[in-house]
Amino acid sequence: MDNSPNSPQPVDVSHIRSIGVIGAGQMGLGIAQVAAQTGHDVVLVDASLELATKGRDKLAVSLGRLVEKGKLTAEARDALIGKIKPVKGPEDLGGADLTVEAATEQLDLKLKLFKAADAAMKKGALLTSNTSSISITKLAASTSRPELVAGMHFMNPVPVMKLCEIVRGVQSSDQTIAMVTTLAQKMGKTTILSKDIPGFLVNRMLIPFLNEACFALQEGVGSPEDLDLAGKLGLNHPMGPLELADLIGLDTCLFIAEVLHREFGDDKYRAASVLRNLVAAGWLGKKTGRGFYVYDEKGNKLRAAI
Ligand code: CAA
Repeated sequence: MDNSPNSPQPVDVSHIRSIGVIGAGQMGLGIAQVAAQTGHDVVLVDASLELATKGRDKLAVSLGRLVEKGKLTAEARDALIGKIKPVKGPEDLGGADLTVEAATEQLDLKLKLFKAADAAMKKGALLTSNTSSISITKLAASTSRPELVAGMHFMNPVPVMKLCEIVRGVQSSDQTIAMVTTLAQKMGKTTILSKDIPGFLVNRMLIPFLNEACFALQEGVGSPEDLDLAGKLGLNHPMGPLELADLIGLDTCLFIAEVLHREFGDDKYRAASVLRNLVAAGWLGKKTGRGFYVYDEKGNKLRAAI
């Protein structure tokens, strides 16, 4: 594994056996999958027991595709799903040794969930967020355990992407950073370390890139397909910028662009109006079947949408 030379020395994390995951969306389910695959019990939280159960069922269906492809045995899939326990809400996180919050990128919602998880979790348990842009320091300050809070920012799709960006809040202790780094590595990820500055490392680079592609599109510099071919064949990226924005979710891209714009106070980060308009229309990318492209119900790209 190609870890950053800035990673702390690994520490013992064998006591972290149960991992809480808040949010049964695409990121939360990916984190739950990787946690279970690496031998952890997972407590899966969403807005209700029904939604958490629905999330686990959705994961079972997506793992079924790996079984069909012969990449996973049906027994391994069943064992993995069996390690994931959907629960009613954050009040059921009492047994978790570490929680990763992966709810929608909304500060108020994350603060509410952090407070609830903090109240339920045992003394000494770690509380982390998969946020892509919200201040870890702010989230930590809402809890009674700020030194035990850090960012664990996984990339989408979590089971496939090799990176986990560790974010150090102002209050995070050295021990916390060492533990979450070692855990992410145990979950098969290469880690990098970022200060708690808006966008951290990945989105500080990525969101201005995606947003610039949106500006080029709205200025009519080229078509969506040609912008994406430019990214794929001209830059050797696995996906073009507009396809990638659709995969991440246009609401998430817009939210992060707005955080960068607001927090740095620099107009170079202002979001392109085509991005704002698609979000206003509810066309959020692959997850809603339409963004820059139109997708069929299996998520296959059909054609450009604008
Ligand atoms: N579990 C395990 N394996 C899985 C899987 C899962 N849930 N889903 C897919 N895979 C495997 C597939 O079986 C396949 O394996 P093989 O190569 O051995 O056949 C492999 O992963 C790739 O899957 P696909 O063949 O379906 O797809 P692909 O080759 O077209 O690659 C992709 C898809 C991985 C998404 C690739 O296009 C890619 O890397 N895109 C860029 C993604 C990216 O940049 N993500 C970062 C977004 S930024 C972010 O997340 C941060 C943020 O805060 C916004």
